[in-house]
Amino acid sequence: MVKFKSRQLYLVTGFITGFVCAFMLILNIDDVHIDISSRSDYASSAAAHRIQRDLAADIRVLCMVLTCPENLELNAQHVHATWGQRCNKLIFASSENYEPLGVVKVVEPDAGSYKDLWNKTREGFRYVWQEYGDQYDWFVKADDDTYIIMENMRRMLSVYDPAMPLYFGYQMKRYNVVFVIDA
Ligand SMILES: *[C@@H]1O[C@H](CO)[C@@H](O)[C@H](O)[C@H]1NC(C)=O
Repeated sequence: MVKFKSRQLYLVTGFITGFVCAFMLILNIDDVHIDISSRSDYASSAAAHRIQRDLAADIRVLCMVLTCPENLELNAQHVHATWGQRCNKLIFASSENYEPLGVVKVVEPDAGSYKDLWNKTREGFRYVWQEYGDQYDWFVKADDDTYIIMENMRRMLSVYDPAMPLYFGYQMKRYNVVFVIDA
């Protein structure tokens, strides 16, 4: 039989105690982890999906994204492939039509410069209002390098009445024109 001196015994006891404590701690952490990932997480994401589905039906948002022919490949197609899909309707306002992405010509090609951004915004809104004014609750203007988290925007909008004449954003003054751009 192996005989422990008392110092060795303390050492061994310490080791075992430490090991058991660490093991229990790991088990506990693991438990918490399992709890979150296997139950509440799924439950809450299912609820979140349901809420989003309801919000998307109730809060109909048309997204008008300003772009130009040179930016289709670089920017617009990525808006079309990502957050644009979560709009109830996505329209790109440009100076040239491009049907595959839903790009509509709202200004003349020579009027597509940066200086004419305001006119493109106005002509875009004019087009969107004429074509879709009665079909959506909110009309969002964005640029082709914008990323909008539509879930958050719908949640923000959910407390407002779309029948009220509301305009969100911040006011800018460029080339002596005062206008409101993206929030
Ligand atoms: C704005 O664009 C429209 C459509 O291209 C054009 O008819 C109009 O003259 C432009 N207005 C200004 C101020 O540039």
